[in-house]
Formats: sequence, structure tokens, C-alpha cells
Amino acid sequence: MSRNAAAAASNPPRTGAISVKVWRGDANGAFQTFSVPRREHQTVLDVVTDIQRTQDSTLAYRYACRVGMCGSCAMLVNGQPRWTCRTRVDRIKGETLKLEPLRNLPIVKDLTVDMAPFFDKWQRAHGYFEPGENPPDDFASIAPQSAERRQADAGIECISCAICYSACDVVSWNEDYLGPAALNRAWTLVNDVRDRGQPERLTAVSGDAGCHSCHSHMSCTTFCPKGLSPTASIAGLKRATAARAWRGRR
Ligand code: SF4
Ligand code: SF4
Ligand code: FES
Repeated sequence: MSRNAAAAASNPPRTGAISVKVWRGDANGAFQTFSVPRREHQTVLDVVTDIQRTQDSTLAYRYACRVGMCGSCAMLVNGQPRWTCRTRVDRIKGETLKLEPLRNLPIVKDLTVDMAPFFDKWQRAHGYFEPGENPPDDFASIAPQSAERRQADAGIECISCAICYSACDVVSWNEDYLGPAALNRAWTLVNDVRDRGQPERLTAVSGDAGCHSCHSHMSCTTFCPKGLSPTASIAGLKRATAARAWRGRR
């Protein structure tokens, strides 16, 4: 028997309907239960779409790309933050699904959250490219193997899904904390040798709500669907801000 056939025999496909508890309303809402037919290769986003198209057209949720690029479909699935377009139902343990909006962001309605506080923190962390007053006309030539280029590459594939932000307990405790995504973006830019905004950026990320508030418990890294490590990026910022303080340039 092939390895795939053996795996299928020991883990037969589940059939019948899935019982799905879905958060409805705002922060004072409640769960509503739906029954959705199981389908082969079904994703959690397929389940939500099925409910919205066939049972309750008022259900609010977000998605755009369905292929893991836009970051808009994130929500809590059985208590864990996930990108639902790439999360297969048959990989979720248990017979029921419990779907809630992301943690640490205001609920707009049902499964949608207000992303404004998340992106405001990208601004506060100077998570945008600063070309300087007189940027060169020519393209910059950056050696692919340079340390800075590899450090920048490590965090650049962020799709701003806010899964890490939802997973971070420090964000829950301190609503001012910039959070893993904004800090990961800031570290990516610290390593961008073309950028001319480094002093202001390092100041922005070194305050009470910045990188030194991170407890390094790695929930962000555990749940990031792109396999990034905001924890490592934040450690880089801690080193960079500490080195600057040692040099007396705070
Ligand atoms: S490592 Fe830092 S940013 Fe990541 S979840 Fe923990 S406290 Fe939050
Ligand atoms: S670092 Fe990962 S989890 Fe956080 S916003 Fe970017 S892609 Fe999403
Ligand atoms: S819909 Fe775009 S990442 Fe899921």
C-alpha cells in the first residue's frame, strides 16, 4: 500500500455537515450556529462564503484574492488566528468550527474588524520608505548577498493580515504597543540601504510602546502564515536602538 493510500485509510475523509458557530454583531454580539455541507478540499473561507450565499446574506466578512496574497480573510478559527482562504477544513481538529473576528481590533460587524488602529501603528513606526530630499536618479544597486539585503528580505513578504497582531498578548495588555507587524516593517526598512529616515524611525520604535515592550514569547512568529519571524525583527530593532543609545545618539 502506498504512503498516501495508507494515510487515507487511517484518516478517512469526514462526511456530512459541519456545525459552524459564527460570531454575529459587534463586541456585544453572540454566536449563531449554521450547518454547512462538507466538500472536498473545502477551505474555511469556502464555509463562510457558503453561509453568506445560501443561508444569511447579511453575514459580514472580508476576502479578496483567495490565494494567500491580500491578507484580508484573517479571523479566529477555533480560537487561533488564521488566513481562512488557505486553511483547509479537514486540517482543523474537532467536528465543529468556531469562527470569530480577529482579537485586538475593534469589531465592525460579524467577522470584520476595523484595521485602522493596525495601520496607524505602521505610520507611527515609520513603516514607510523615506527617499530623502534628493534621491538619486539611478536605480540603487544592492548586492543580493549583502547582510542588509538578506535582513530586509527576511521580513519583506508581509501581507499585512494582522494575524500576528491578533496573536500578541502585549497588544492586548497595552493598546499603545506598536505590535509585531509594524515593528517587522520598521526593521525591514532599517535594513534598506536606500532609506534616509533611519534616525526618526529608530526613535519611533524605541519608546515605551516600541520594540523594548516585546516579551519575545513568539506567538506572532508561530502564527504568521507567511512564515516570517517578527520576533527576530524586533530583536534586531532592540539591538539597533541599544547600539544607538550606547553611541549617545538618542
Ligand atoms: S514576540 Fe513580541 S510581538 Fe511577538 S507575540 Fe510575543 S510580545 Fe508580541
Ligand atoms: S508579519 Fe505575518 S502575520 Fe504579521 S501581518 Fe505580516 S504576514 Fe501577517
Ligand atoms: S483572501 Fe487574500 S489572503 Fe485570503
